[in-house]
Amino acid sequence: MKKRMSYDHLQPLFAFIDNSPTAYHAAANLEKMLDEAGFSRLDESVRWDIRLGGKYYVNRNGSSLIAFTIPEKMPRGFHMAAAHSDSPCFKLKEAAEIVVDDLYVKLNVEKYGGMILSTWLDRPLSIAGRLVFRGREGMESRLVNLDKDAAVIPNMAIHMNRDMNKGVAYNPQTDMEALIGGAEAKGVYLRKLAEQAGMADYEILGADLFLYNRERCRIAGLDDSLITGPRLDDLECAFAGMKALAEEEPKEYMNVCAVFDNEEVGSGTKQGADSTFLKDVLERVSQKLGVDAEGYRCMLADSFLISADNAHALHPNHPEKADAGNRPVMNNGIVIKYHGSQRYATDAVSAAMMKDICLRAGVLYQSYANRSDIAGGSTLGNISTAQVSVKTVDIGLAQLAMHSAYETAGAADIAYLIQAFRTYYRD
Ligand code: CO
Repeated sequence: MKKRMSYDHLQPLFAFIDNSPTAYHAAANLEKMLDEAGFSRLDESVRWDIRLGGKYYVNRNGSSLIAFTIPEKMPRGFHMAAAHSDSPCFKLKEAAEIVVDDLYVKLNVEKYGGMILSTWLDRPLSIAGRLVFRGREGMESRLVNLDKDAAVIPNMAIHMNRDMNKGVAYNPQTDMEALIGGAEAKGVYLRKLAEQAGMADYEILGADLFLYNRERCRIAGLDDSLITGPRLDDLECAFAGMKALAEEEPKEYMNVCAVFDNEEVGSGTKQGADSTFLKDVLERVSQKLGVDAEGYRCMLADSFLISADNAHALHPNHPEKADAGNRPVMNNGIVIKYHGSQRYATDAVSAAMMKDICLRAGVLYQSYANRSDIAGGSTLGNISTAQVSVKTVDIGLAQLAMHSAYETAGAADIAYLIQAFRTYYRD
């Protein structure tokens, strides 16, 4: 198969990532995409009105989103995709401001997920997240984004640590506090964020606020073959899954796309992949369609899940870190991930089904396995199947510097993934 380069989907992808500094913003932006495609919002706390032929989405906690489209006739099962909305970053502590000798104000932060600490130093950062306050009808939540180069985590000068280039063990408490200005900066960030949410800072009762990288996504490389940007893991897959879901009409199967929060911290929250969220939605929709308990189990037995989370590309400076035969390369198509101990849920059956989808979509695929002496990471597939047990394949797009504040991926691959998802959902 010949490689095809396509840049069509890069600008919408870039806009999505640039405007999604946190999982809350990512979910809100995906909702906007679904609203424009005629989906209806369902609230978990009220009874659902579900019809054959309908398109719906459910948001839990403002940060996890499950969207689904029901065919005109009773679905045989579920064609599902999953990705995650969160990325490793720094969370502001509750009382975050620290004044240094009446001279500087800095923010006390803690790690959210396993990031490469050094990549957060010396670059423009800002603050975004959600604020909770008491509104007319109870607690209300508002998204906020300072949208300004507001903070920086400064490195030490090399003159103060001559061993800087021999590898530094950054201390997440003492080395990663973010400078937000001189003494005058005290109280400013909460005041500005509260103002943006239409309230006063003293009205804020709760806050989930994060530092984010202000660098934007770009096309890179002399041949324009690369994309660079923050949060490529896993907003690339989240974008591709939801876009394909919105663009395809279901025929035999109910199409589902789940974007979960908290993958980077183990998925064990009420809205994570290890929660009952997906199970709750599938059971509830089936009940509403009049499917009995056994019928639901028949549907699950005839279902499939594509767990999509980015994969490690062959590193140009460290090819020795890659497996001998399963070393994906950027722009060479969809990566199918394998793991002997099943931390990736792929097996021969699900791999065959995924390859069949890729072949029908006319897109390239390649394989990833860890070196046998490297532990590797985990992802959504094996966690989600603990709640909803269906045939599952783990896939992703090849990228470099996973969990850096600024990652690199292939410019052509996002089009491959969208095409594969569309073929999957069309069937
Ligand atoms: Co990921």
